[in-house]
Amino acid sequence: MRNRRFVLASRPAAMPEEGNWKLVETAMPGPGEGEILVRTIWLSVDPYMRGRIAAGKGYAKGIEIGAVMGGGGVGEVVRSRHPAFKPGDIVESMAFGWQEYAVLGPAGTRKVDPAHGPIRHALGILGMPGLTAYFALFDIGRPKPGDTVVVSAASGAVGQVVGQLAKMAGCRTVAVAGSEAKLAWCRDELGYDAGVNHRTAGDLPAALAAACPGGIDIYFDNTAGLIADAAMGLVNLGARIVQCGRIAISSQPGPDIGPRFHGQFIATRCRMEGFLIFDHAHRYDEGLRRLGPWVREGKLRYREDIVEGFENTPRALIRVLSGTNFGKQLVKVADEPGR
Ligand SMILES: NC(=O)c1ccc[n+]([C@@H]2O[C@H](COP(=O)([O-])OP(=O)(O)OC[C@H]3O[C@@H](n4cnc5c(N)ncnc54)[C@H](OP(=O)(O)O)[C@@H]3O)[C@@H](O)[C@H]2O)c1
Repeated sequence: MRNRRFVLASRPAAMPEEGNWKLVETAMPGPGEGEILVRTIWLSVDPYMRGRIAAGKGYAKGIEIGAVMGGGGVGEVVRSRHPAFKPGDIVESMAFGWQEYAVLGPAGTRKVDPAHGPIRHALGILGMPGLTAYFALFDIGRPKPGDTVVVSAASGAVGQVVGQLAKMAGCRTVAVAGSEAKLAWCRDELGYDAGVNHRTAGDLPAALAAACPGGIDIYFDNTAGLIADAAMGLVNLGARIVQCGRIAISSQPGPDIGPRFHGQFIATRCRMEGFLIFDHAHRYDEGLRRLGPWVREGKLRYREDIVEGFENTPRALIRVLSGTNFGKQLVKVADEPGR
């Protein structure tokens, strides 16, 4: 019995390539006292991984060259040396790493009940991205009925939830996305009121202004870069800017230089606040208690984009970083139990 894993082979200078990772085989790991051995079923690939493989300091410890690539997953317990877990349990953790079998400790490992819906939802709408949308929108965005809310990467794992929650809060929602198909889905399935294609708009500030005739009350920033520049020029008095992600600039080789908005901050007294989901770990149950019923009742829809096969995991991450994914990007590593 061998384990396959991807290790980081080199650091990308710009957009990652598959050659930045190397597939290696190791002996099957055994769980130590208090640990469990888990068979990976689903892996999540997420934009934050770009920061973990970059040179230099980020908000979390980076991945060393030669080390297994980090990442979250959902899998089945195959051996347990911890009293709270037994073989057959389904668990989710951010500590799976890109490997077919992982040894996990109890910290940050939560059981997933298959009776509550697809177990892969624990990596999306009922996991880190869904909770990010929920806490960041309500804590920082503070939506009010009638607010205009602009969401970048609007069809993505986080953005699709933000748009629907803002709509539930009585807001007018404007999607910014990178294809007509994504925008049509945002409008028809998620109820976004307007949309802008940031890849074809040409004059992006003018296109966004046309979609937001009353200005912007909340800008939920998943991208930074040119979309954020366009949004900042339109913010209203007392606007809230949720700084959630910077995928548009995370693979850029040099520093990002753009317009300066100090005057805009003074004129509108808007507030911009950075968000990091891990600060809210102690509130996950609260968030899941709200999101869970909405998902089960069909009030919240969720689109996933599934790549099949463990060996395609680097390709799946590159899809996300280049905008090819349409919905929450997952990798199906193995069949679920009973299939
Ligand atoms: N702060 C936190 O705690 C936290 C937690 C989760 C996620 N995030 C951040 O939230 C953002 C969205 O994450 P996600 O998991 O939901 O990913 P996602 O939206 O499912 O996928 C990424 C999307 O980003 C867009 N994109 C890629 N390159 C771009 C570019 N150069 N310019 C503009 N858009 C680009 C693409 O959509 P289009 O085709 O529509 O452009 C792509 O589909 C990321 O920045 C991520 O880092 C932050």
